[in-house]
Amino acid sequence: MSVVGGESPGRGRDVEPASGDVSESVLAARRTGGGAARTCDVANEGSIEVDRVKLRHHGDVDVRPGMLDFAVNVQGSGPPEWLRERLAARLGALGSYPGEAEEFAARSVVAARHGRAPEEVLLLAGAAEGFAMLPRLSPGLAAVIHPSFTEPELALREAGTPLARVVLPDPYVLDPALVPEAADLVVLGNPTNPTSVLHPAETILALRRPDRVVVVDEAFADAVPDEPESLAAQSLPDVLVLRSLTKTWALAGLRCGYFLGPAPLLERLRHGRAHWPLGALQLEAIAATGDPAAVAESRSRAVRIAADRAAMISRLRELGIAVHEPAHGPFLLIRVPDAELLRKRLAELGVAVRRGDTFPGLDPGHLRLAVRAPAEVDRLIAALHEVGL
Ligand SMILES: Cc1ncc(COP(=O)(O)O)c(C=O)c1O
Repeated sequence: MSVVGGESPGRGRDVEPASGDVSESVLAARRTGGGAARTCDVANEGSIEVDRVKLRHHGDVDVRPGMLDFAVNVQGSGPPEWLRERLAARLGALGSYPGEAEEFAARSVVAARHGRAPEEVLLLAGAAEGFAMLPRLSPGLAAVIHPSFTEPELALREAGTPLARVVLPDPYVLDPALVPEAADLVVLGNPTNPTSVLHPAETILALRRPDRVVVVDEAFADAVPDEPESLAAQSLPDVLVLRSLTKTWALAGLRCGYFLGPAPLLERLRHGRAHWPLGALQLEAIAATGDPAAVAESRSRAVRIAADRAAMISRLRELGIAVHEPAHGPFLLIRVPDAELLRKRLAELGVAVRRGDTFPGLDPGHLRLAVRAPAEVDRLIAALHEVGL
């Protein structure tokens, strides 16, 4: 199988195979009628350039202070009052190193929330830390499913992990047959940023193979009412689920998340980690947002997001904007004739939207919009009218 091209970690740009270098997975895609030739690109020493600057681009850099923010998918500008109070009450603890008891207590709350054992939880400084740990699994070939959040690919590339990029064609339906059989690590998001596609749990489970680990980035799962396709509660020896507190609780600046998975894999992921990896405030936030009252609040927020999203889709469609549906995340993927021009003109009017072309598999016509409340959508629609859409 001519799929893997290892790379030296220091290189600025990497390459993927020439179109003539057809990999087994591309052939599989063609056999199954899986769209055009770009259905699956597999990293190798070839010709398609991989631009790390694009992989590192995130919505936060599209937002200047004072802008109306449709670029970043965090809900609100900061955590709710009750959570601020709990965090403030812990400020006095900052004089001590975070102890094992606090870490275990926070881990136990997370475990109870997902019906897991505390040994199946690894607390993280954000889901981003979880991606950075993946190379510790020493994959022989990692497959990343795109279009998707680019940090996992970047973390694996930076570590020199051989990598296969599996690019799903519109409508971005997951097809396990597109993943190279040789991949012993598969990473995907659910619901997926930026397409807002929610893959069925059953299809994700169909990615499982002997000697393969499947990693599901569920950073946005708590924005889906009742999380029907989440694997968080399933104890499987080869599935890791990554969760984040960033989005729902507007805690991007605190850095909180966790892995759920089998203890032996978590042990490998944490190997070599610095001592006291999470501070007292992070542990407090994780414990606070995992208790049943907070989980109920997060569900109500998810229900509100679903209503806001439906309303926002109608308003965008009235303007003739193509919105990718079905959408299940707290963001929408849209397509317009000249997205770059539209993004710049909206920015001049103080409205930030996320460019789409940095996501592998999307093109310069795509933009991503965070789902917002009707009052903010009114302002977006007014700006769209003003720029002539
Ligand atoms: C899909 C997805 N996963 C993970 C993350 C990172 O989350 P965290 O803030 O917990 O590191 C992001 C951030 O934008 C994301 O969009």
